[in-house]
Parts: sequence; structure tokens; C-alpha cells
Amino acid sequence: MNAKNKVLISGGAGYIGSHTAVELSEAGYDVVIIDNLTNSEINAIEGVRKITGKDIPFEKVDTCDINELRKVFEKYDFDTVIHFAAYKAVGESMAQPLKYYNNNLISFLNIMELMKEFDRPNILFSSSATVYGEAESLPVTEQSPRQPATSPYGNTKQMCEDILRDSCRAYPGIYGIALRYFNPIGAHPSSLIGELPRGVPNNLVPFITQTAAGIRECLSVFGNDYDTPDGTCLRDYIDIVDLAKAHVAAVRRMTSGDMQEKYEIFNIGTGKPVSVLELLTTFQEVNDIKVPHKMVDRRPGDVPAVWANTDYANHVLGWKAERTLAETLKSSWDWEKKIRKIQ
Ligand code: NAD
Ligand code: WQD
Repeated sequence: MNAKNKVLISGGAGYIGSHTAVELSEAGYDVVIIDNLTNSEINAIEGVRKITGKDIPFEKVDTCDINELRKVFEKYDFDTVIHFAAYKAVGESMAQPLKYYNNNLISFLNIMELMKEFDRPNILFSSSATVYGEAESLPVTEQSPRQPATSPYGNTKQMCEDILRDSCRAYPGIYGIALRYFNPIGAHPSSLIGELPRGVPNNLVPFITQTAAGIRECLSVFGNDYDTPDGTCLRDYIDIVDLAKAHVAAVRRMTSGDMQEKYEIFNIGTGKPVSVLELLTTFQEVNDIKVPHKMVDRRPGDVPAVWANTDYANHVLGWKAERTLAETLKSSWDWEKKIRKIQ
């Protein structure tokens, strides 16, 4: 197989990386995974191998260590890198900004330096809807202005997007795509891989599944006095397998020479706003389980509503979210039951 069909996945033992490794492998790509396992477990690699039936190579490497990373570039002849390796907890980034700037920026700069050094053309970067902040109009398109970041985490996403844009502009051999993910949720239908938050989850769905499993007593719904149909916040929850497939579409675009610009940005969401209460109700109905919950004050920093206009990804990538919210929330609960050994 030639280098065009080989993809290096940094952070590939993580939540989005592991699902992407599966979809890429099933689409016929050869993948190589690197991860330092600071926010993931080796079991995820075993899960990916089990689902695909392939002995996918894995190297335990810290992408901040350029010498270790160089050995990966020397050993494997991939044309494309998908860069997931980053820290992602917004609250922790406020408390420990240097940890976030160090890891998320150095890691990405090292990847970019080596792409240049080894003439590897295609880089796909994991960006986030967080770059839109509190948008002036909804849904947001890729042309909606980015708002000043409200956390060091969000700032690293904006800075990496800028590094990518400038590098694509300056270096003739480098092509970049930034995918701005909305709110990824769910697990692989096999329940062999899924999200593994450490400690108390910050995100809504893992908090719901852990409450359903009896690990948390009660879900706090952060604010029911927003100017939204039921008073709770609106988000665009994107299924993890659909999200993984968006990476396959983006890699295909890069490797087939279809890119119109050297740097392209795509929103990856469903295009449908869902409220916290609507999501909670759907979870309870589809899984036939009650989740204790109470209304509490708004969480500082939350935007009332954000959802994607996905026309560009739908038309240009030929990709569309397919799984329903109910299917996705069933997969979340199946995964939680599997890891907690609940019958
Ligand atoms: P995750 O924490 O599950 O996966 C990230 C992986 O990167 C982990 O396995 C971690 O061990 C690894 N990693 C971190 N620093 C590393 C380093 N220096 N060297 C090697 N490996 C390193 O997170 P995720 O949810 O899969 O997110 C993947 C990417 O998508 C991140 O860049 C994140 O910022 C971005 N993103 C995530 C979300 C979300 O809600 N999950 C939304 C938007 C964007
Ligand atoms: C969703 C909704 C909460 C927990 C975060 C990051 C963002 C991106 C995705 C990486 C909100 C409500 C939550 C709870 C609740 N990550 N909620 N009770 O804040 O939209 O986005 O993850 O790039 O950058 O900020 O996701 O899952 O935390 O919250 O009521 O216990 O659920 O208020 O309305 P968020 P979330």
C-alpha cells in the first residue's frame, strides 16, 4: 500500500482518535497510532484491534518529545497525519494554563516541523466549536467570526488553527484541514471503545451515564432560565461514529487532491439544536431508566446556544451525520454498562 493510504493518528488511544482509527481502517486505510496514554488506556488500542481484526501498530510516544516523534516519521511512510493529541478540559486549563499551552502547542508545532522536514503533505487538525464562543447569529457557519477565547484550552485551538493556516500559506507542500467538532457523544456500537473520562465528568452525557449507573447521585442541570424553548442550553450533539466518518471523508479529500484551498475548515455537527432537558428525556426513554436530576444555577462560561450550519461539510465532504440522538444515547448507556459490568 502506498503512503497516500497511510495515516498517522496522534492521540489515537483517546475517545475520538480510537473511533477514527476504526473507521479509517474499515475504509481501507493503514493506520499507525501514537499516544502517551496520559488521558487514555491501552485497552482502547485492543478494542480498535478487536473491532477491525487488524494488528494496528501502536507506539507509546509523547508528541512533545520531538526526537521520539522523529523516530515515528522515520519508521512509517504515511502522507497524512490526524492530530488529536491534546488536553481538553476547559476548567483545568483555567487553573493550569501553562500545562495546556505547553502540551497543546508544542505537540502541534512538533508535528508541523516534522511534516515539513519529512515532506509529508496532509495534516488534519481537531478544532472545536469553542472557537465561535457566544455567536452573534445561529447556526454558525465556517465564516462566522471567532470570538476571543474564554479559556486557555479554547485559545490553544485558535492558536493551532492560525499556525496551520499560516503554515499552509507559507509551505508549498503542506495542505491542512481543521474540523471544528461540536459536542461529540456516544460510543461504538460494539461497546468495545467509548469515552473514558477520569474523575468527575465535566461533560453532560458521561455525567448522565454515571448517574444512571449509580456512581453519581444526581445530575445538576445548569440553568433553566436561558432564552431557549425550555430554558436550558442548546447544543449540537454529534455521534462519535458519525464524527469519525467525517475524518475519513476529510482524509479522502486531502489524499485525492480535491482540495480547492490549501487550508480548509469544516463544521462537524448535526445542524440540529438539542436542549439539555430534551437530551435527558431521550436518554431516559430509549434506555428505560430514570436519571435523578435537579435544576441548579447556570454554570459560569456556558454559552446559551450553539449549533452548526453543516452545509459546507455536507456538500464538499459529501458527509452527513446519520445516527439518531436515540441511537447514540443508547450506545452511551451500553458502553457505560459494559465498563461498569452492569447487566
Ligand atoms: P481524549 O483525551 O480522549 O484523547 C486525546 C488523546 O491524546 C489521549 O489519549 C491522550 O492520552 C493523548 N495525548 C494528550 N497529550 C499527548 C501528548 N503530548 N502526546 C501523546 N498523546 C497525547 O480527547 P478526545 O475527546 O478524543 O479529543 C481529541 C481531540 O479533539 C483533542 O484535540 C480535543 O481538544 C479535540 N476536541 C474534543 C472535543 C470533545 O468534546 N471531546 C470537542 C472538540 C475538540
Ligand atoms: C453541554 C450542556 C451544560 C454537565 C464542552 C467544551 C467544548 C467542547 C465540548 C472541546 C451545557 C450542560 C453539562 C452537567 C449540565 N470540548 N450540563 N450538567 O460545555 O457545550 O462544551 O465540551 O473542545 O470546548 O466547553 O459541553 O457537555 O460540558 O455541556 O447541565 O453536569 O450540558 O450547561 O449546556 P459544552 P458539556
